[in-house]
Amino acid sequence: MNPTNNPNGVNGAVALGEPVLTARDVSIEYEVDPPVKAVRGASITLHRGEILGLAGESGCGKTTLAYGLNRLLKAPALMTGGEVVFHDASGADIDVVALDGESLRKYRWDKVSMVFQGSMNSLNPVMSVRKQLADVFLTHRPAMKRAEREARCAELLSLVGVDPARLSSFPHELSGGMRQRVMIAMALALDPQVMIMDEPTTALDVVVQRGIIREIMRLRERLGFAVIFITHDLPLLIEISDRIAIMLDGEIVEQGASEQIYRAPGHPYTRRLLSSFPSLRGERGDFIRTGAAMGGAA
Ligand SMILES: Nc1ncnc2c1ncn2[C@@H]1O[C@H](COP(=O)(O)OP(=O)(O)O)[C@@H](O)[C@H]1O
Ligand SMILES: [Mg+2]
Repeated sequence: MNPTNNPNGVNGAVALGEPVLTARDVSIEYEVDPPVKAVRGASITLHRGEILGLAGESGCGKTTLAYGLNRLLKAPALMTGGEVVFHDASGADIDVVALDGESLRKYRWDKVSMVFQGSMNSLNPVMSVRKQLADVFLTHRPAMKRAEREARCAELLSLVGVDPARLSSFPHELSGGMRQRVMIAMALALDPQVMIMDEPTTALDVVVQRGIIREIMRLRERLGFAVIFITHDLPLLIEISDRIAIMLDGEIVEQGASEQIYRAPGHPYTRRLLSSFPSLRGERGDFIRTGAAMGGAA
């Protein structure tokens, strides 16, 4: 799609880019007793530059699926079926399930990065923001010179709307919103083609949430990455996503343009998710527009 024509997907007419990440029939189990079939035959397609919302109640398998897409699953979790293909900008199709060693390491943070659920509380309390950002480069770009690393860290903070003077701060000196922005900066560090954001704003109050979401939309437009945005908050997704996938008990039960999900939800569960929130007033896009009127970084 051309994100500049339709940055918020608010018109419903979503012109999609080429696929960048395709999951087909993915099943994931936790091999405990009794086994938990957390994801059951899930198929989703993420297109270049789009925001795909993944919605569903707590425990339906959203995080497990995200970990599967990013090859972060650890025992007792096991992908028992399906395929995940990353369509690289170079033109190569990468079989994500077959990756290992160096190719897996490169995939994980260079190609597809992740903002983890609850991550703003996972910054190391005894390390400065500078050190934590620099660590991404030390690990993934060991040849990078110190001066360049320092410049890139400052640039990343500005990019997410945090004063680079904050490089010297420690996590407890930052607000929750700022900490979450730092986590987003980290996920952006290596210029990924896809960012998976798992409930990135759930713990934040609504004004701070707005600021962060506007930032994500701006960055997406500027840098061109695609986003899988995970939340239980379907009305929020309708505001910000181009397309939405609805998950119920490990299955994707509906997938479509946000406008279609909003106007004509097909699955009874989608209707229930929509009606379980306070009535949606106004047009799609209001969240962002009112957000814009509030100005200022959270
Ligand atoms: N380590 C684990 N061991 C066993 N079951 C798990 C584990 N982690 C998650 N689950 C189960 O897998 C299902 C999906 O969890 P999750 O992916 O975290 O859902 P969501 O992110 O939608 O809240 C839930 O039933 C959860 O209890
Ligand atoms: Mg989760």
